[in-house]
Amino acid sequence: MSIEAKEEFRPKIVAFCCNWCSYAGADLAGSSRLAYPADVKIIRVPCSCRVNPMFILRAFEKGADGVILCGCHPGDCHYSTGNYYARRRMTLLFSMLDYIGVENGRTRVEWVSAAEGVKFSTTMNEFVEKVRSLGKNVRLEDLRCRNL
Ligand code: FES
Repeated sequence: MSIEAKEEFRPKIVAFCCNWCSYAGADLAGSSRLAYPADVKIIRVPCSCRVNPMFILRAFEKGADGVILCGCHPGDCHYSTGNYYARRRMTLLFSMLDYIGVENGRTRVEWVSAAEGVKFSTTMNEFVEKVRSLGKNVRLEDLRCRNL
């Protein structure tokens, strides 16, 4: 058994967070000293609707084990309706990903406001646990991107 196999699996998570709510929620979680795994890599976007489905596919291609999109609550989007577009787009994308073998548990959309540091931390902890239980993602990964 290799050394890697003995170590606990730590999933790589990409979290797209909108600037106006979720990123501020992540900031609040940090300043409130609420813990969430360091393997969650946050990418700040102006709005959840800025996330093109290709960004999600690219994250999986580059070796992500799970991708989460966080935005403002419905009705609270800084650009009025961006999160409605994002929700529709992601619903379709996630069902297509599930069809090709990227389980539903590896993708998630969550609304987190700037005042919800606790929710941000809880969501990330739950999501990481879920992805950990699913194991390493073997679909869509571009082997040329893997560090050998
Ligand atoms: Fe947050 Fe649009 S600005 S979802």
